[in-house]
Amino acid sequence: EKGNYRHFMQKEIFEQPTVVAQTLQSYIHQADNRVALPQIDFDLSAISRITLVACGTSFYAGMVAKYWFETFARVPVDIDVASEFRYREPPLEDGGLALFISQSGETADTLAALRHCKANGQTIAVVVNVPTSSMAREADLLLPTHAGPEIGVASTKAFTCQLAVLAALAAHLAVKKGRIDRAEEQEIVRHLLEAPACLNAALDHDDDIAGMAHLIAPARDVLYLGRGPDYPLALEGALKLKEISYIHAEGYASGEMKHGPIALIDEAVPVIVLAPSGPLFEKTVSNMQEVRARGGKIVLISDEEGLAEAGEGCLATIQMPRVHPLIAPLVYAVPVQLLAYHVACAKGTDVDQPRNLAKSVTVE
Ligand code: F6R
Repeated sequence: EKGNYRHFMQKEIFEQPTVVAQTLQSYIHQADNRVALPQIDFDLSAISRITLVACGTSFYAGMVAKYWFETFARVPVDIDVASEFRYREPPLEDGGLALFISQSGETADTLAALRHCKANGQTIAVVVNVPTSSMAREADLLLPTHAGPEIGVASTKAFTCQLAVLAALAAHLAVKKGRIDRAEEQEIVRHLLEAPACLNAALDHDDDIAGMAHLIAPARDVLYLGRGPDYPLALEGALKLKEISYIHAEGYASGEMKHGPIALIDEAVPVIVLAPSGPLFEKTVSNMQEVRARGGKIVLISDEEGLAEAGEGCLATIQMPRVHPLIAPLVYAVPVQLLAYHVACAKGTDVDQPRNLAKSVTVE
């Protein structure tokens, strides 16, 4: 039931601090702040690469996780959308690990990719929200997200829970590979445990975001920009907006702007910039200047420090708490979800049941 919420999507966005905490709890050993995974009959330390496959929002969670697996564990990740993976016949190493991410556990393309990998000698790990699903049943290593039932067609809380599991998995793999020591693992876990409070702090800006929906609702096209692990968040923001508000939106890596999409910029195309302060911030500020010089209107999503430096002259700003870079993708998911949600409400679309979409895509 929706309780006091207008839509399931809204309710599910607000559940994130609770369900992310719940999910983390089942992957973290409270006593010593270390990652605890379900037992498997597979030597994770022997992994030399990961094949990662998913669709839609789950694919974007995988894109974020690629950064984590590669930076913490130094394990290279090949990532594909399931519908492409199956037909490009990628070479698979004997005894490799294939990782699948899915809310429903029933997405036809992802399931077919899973079966293909299984038939080709891969160990199958799945991050899945529905514990009774086909993917859960067929996995060697089942990594459940504990988001609870997700009813809104647009995925929200499943995404942040997937990120929580994937971050824990990356830390665990890094330990197994001897890339980080116990103290570093505990440090990662400590930052992960800060996520629920930071998600709450992000949700506190709901009213501000609702108040700016009218600035985006009339747009025909919207661009989202991000760098590093926030690039997949830009893709996710664009997907959320297009699927529930029917506004054409695209996500780009900030640095790719000048290679084409900058031609689209004028005063009618809002540009949503996701940029926590940190080492990549200056680069993004120069991308913002390129947009501004062409009359583009910017909505900057950043923390206090970032907004103080680059917030002036923006169409609007959304303030996020200052967070450790590890959890920024979880926290920055909130404003992109809320922005899509409030723009869709302003346009009067059917938020929970957008046209042409199904919650679980069981056809290929
Ligand atoms: C977007 C959305 C879809 C799903 C995709 C994969 O909001 O919900 O893009 O993420 O259809 O679904 P699962 O995760 O169930 O495999």
